Amino acid sequence: MVLARLWHAKSGPGSGITPAVDRDGQGSWRRDLSNLHPVARDALHMRKAWVGVESPGGALPAPVRVRLLSRADEAVLGRIMWLAFQDSVDDEYRVPADADADAAGVFGDRWGPVVSQASLAAELDSVVISAVVIVLDDAHQGIPLLAFAMTDPAWQRQGIGRWLIEESIRRLDAIGVKELHLVVTRGNPAFALYQRLGFEVVPGKSAPEVPGRSV
Ligand SMILES: CC(C)(COP(=O)(O)OP(=O)(O)OC[C@H]1O[C@@H](n2cnc3c(N)ncnc32)[C@H](O)[C@@H]1OP(=O)(O)O)[C@@H](O)C(=O)NCCC(=O)NCCS
Repeated sequence: MVLARLWHAKSGPGSGITPAVDRDGQGSWRRDLSNLHPVARDALHMRKAWVGVESPGGALPAPVRVRLLSRADEAVLGRIMWLAFQDSVDDEYRVPADADADAAGVFGDRWGPVVSQASLAAELDSVVISAVVIVLDDAHQGIPLLAFAMTDPAWQRQGIGRWLIEESIRRLDAIGVKELHLVVTRGNPAFALYQRLGFEVVPGKSAPEVPGRSV
C-alpha cells in the first residue's frame, strides 16, 4: 500500500516531487478509500540498480507455483492485500473493501501502468499466497516502482516474497529495465529483506511524517 500510497504521499506541495496524476476523475476507489486508518509514517526511499541478474537463488516451497498477475486477479489481489497488511506497521484497512479498492487502483493504473511482465503471483492449490506488483510510476517520471509486496501471513518467512522480488527483477532485466525503486516505512521488518536483496536507501530529504490517507 503502502509502498505506492506512501510514495505518492511524499508528492505534493513542498515535497519537491511532482504530484500524482489522478487518472480517475469520478474514481470509485477514491471514495472507497475514505475510511482508511490515518497512519503516520517515516518513509525510506530505496533503490536497486543492476547490470546483469541471476535467477532467484533460493527454492520455493515445493507445491508453490508462480505466474503472472493479470486483471482477472483483482479480487485475489484485494484478498492478499487484506491478509498481509493487517496488523502490519502499514495497516490502513478497516474493512476488506479498503483492500479491494487498492487492488482496483492497481489495475486502474492508479500509481502508473502495471508492468505486467514482472508483476507476479505465487499460488498454492490455485490460491494466491503472495504477490508483487511493479508499476512505472507516472508521478515520478515513470520510474520502475515495487508498488506492492505481500505474502499471506500463514506463508511468510519461507522465502516466497524474496523469490518473487528476485524473479520480478530478472523479468525487468529481460525487458531492458535496470533499476527498481520502493518506499518502505521505517520499522517495517521488510526493510531487512530489501537490504538483503541489494536495495540501498536513497539519500535525500528525510521523509516527514506523512498521513496514511494520502490520496
Ligand atoms: C514483506 C513481505 C512481503 C515478505 O514476504 P515473505 O514471503 O515473508 O518474504 P521472505 O520469506 O522471502 O523474507 C522474509 C524476510 O523479511 C523480513 N521479515 C519479514 N517479516 C518479518 C517479521 N515479522 N519479523 C522479522 N523479519 C521479518 C526478514 O528479513 C525475513 O527474513 P528471515 O525470515 O530470514 O529473517 C511480507 O512480510 C509481508 O507481506 N508483509 C506485510 C506487508 C508489507 O509490509 N509489505 C511490504 C511493504 S513495504
